[in-house]
Amino acid sequence: MANKIIFPENFFWGAATASYQIEGAWDKHGKGESTWDRFTHTQGNIKNNDTGDVADDHYRLWKKDIALMKRLGLKSYRFSISWPRILPAGRGEVNKKGLDFYSKLVDALLDAGIIPFATLYHWDLPQTLEDEGGWVVRSTAEAFADYANVVSRALGDRVKNWITQNEPAVVAWLGYEMGVHAPGLKDHPKAMRAAHNLLLSHGMAVPIIKRNSGNAEVGITLNIGWKVPASISKLDRDLAQKDDGKWFRWFVDPVYGRGYPSDMVEHFTKLGALPGGLDFVKESDMDAIAAPIDFIGINYYNRIVHRSNDTDNEPQLVFPKPRTPENWTEMEWENYPEGLTGVLARVYFNYNPFKIYITENGASYSTPPDEKGNVPDELRTNYLRTHLAAAHRAIQAGVPLAGYFVWSLLDNFEWSFGYGQRFGIIWVDYKTQKRTLKDSAKWYKSVIKKNGF
Ligand code: FCB
Repeated sequence: MANKIIFPENFFWGAATASYQIEGAWDKHGKGESTWDRFTHTQGNIKNNDTGDVADDHYRLWKKDIALMKRLGLKSYRFSISWPRILPAGRGEVNKKGLDFYSKLVDALLDAGIIPFATLYHWDLPQTLEDEGGWVVRSTAEAFADYANVVSRALGDRVKNWITQNEPAVVAWLGYEMGVHAPGLKDHPKAMRAAHNLLLSHGMAVPIIKRNSGNAEVGITLNIGWKVPASISKLDRDLAQKDDGKWFRWFVDPVYGRGYPSDMVEHFTKLGALPGGLDFVKESDMDAIAAPIDFIGINYYNRIVHRSNDTDNEPQLVFPKPRTPENWTEMEWENYPEGLTGVLARVYFNYNPFKIYITENGASYSTPPDEKGNVPDELRTNYLRTHLAAAHRAIQAGVPLAGYFVWSLLDNFEWSFGYGQRFGIIWVDYKTQKRTLKDSAKWYKSVIKKNGF
């Protein structure tokens, strides 16, 4: 066994969830319809036509879930707030019951010694706003700023860690360009506008949250994969560069004041995605988007090896790992812990954030409970252990990593995949809503206790 790995003092050992994926109660207590309600209620969009109508019934069982977090010894819990629970029509009238739910949740977390880490947007947009154009229109960014104001005024005395947007790239590209997430549009020019308005909404919200929540730290969460060309050919390198440009640089560069990357403006123009150029960027937008933030949240899951099919291509040098369950999770995502060291180093040394949190990392394995009621998910434990070791290597290289949130606390509704994919360290029996700590959760508990392994 390698030497002991010990994390910095006050490291945020956490777990993450998102409102639509766990809460259920989609139409309870005055909550408005969200785009995900609409999308899942439309047949054919989701595997098995699963919906988040009930999900983990967390809206009812939240006290029990906090008790589980306490049992694990979590230092922090990352959850998201459902916008249509707070503002059923997207803007205007506040649903007091919705705010109360999160207010009580926050109080109970604090009572349990768990630091609340709140995400304002993890994809459940009020449907009323989608009906006006959703993220394609600027008024949605303005509505988001109002929503951020309402929430940070109500919770900002107790919540001191805020994430504005979760993975805006996924919202823009999967939701508006590829149509596999809500709202299901397939329109690249509109998706470009959606991406911009998502970034703008982040930038508008940062100063508002800071004003309402004294000493709070505010950031954004971006998804990043470890993208490598399969050979040294220009073809493969271009593929990798464009894919990284689309999914990461298009978002991180503006947040750090660098504007939209010019190679990608050219690329999107060639694709016909920018018919009017960047006409949707108003003066001062880029300054707003570059509002100073306190940390960046990184969601890392896998490596992607880019290989062009061109027959004249150079010989392939980099291969994905052989297809074993250990190497590939059930999402068909490659298990590649070294990539986590790589992305952390890249983000830190290129963009110099004050702090980084890994706001999501985890693996989908559906290992069920055995006869004794244990869930022997060594594959997940192995994934988490190797990724934590990789994160630790980044810390040793000087990366200011302040915390790690495993995705996810509970098995939950995995978007277009429905309930088939299980990322939880806690098993959820969807018929009875019984929760069972998986072996990975017991292992994680010991890691938290020892601040390492
Ligand atoms: C991320 C999402 C999260 C979850 C994981 C598996 O893209 O933020 O909600 O679905 O992937």
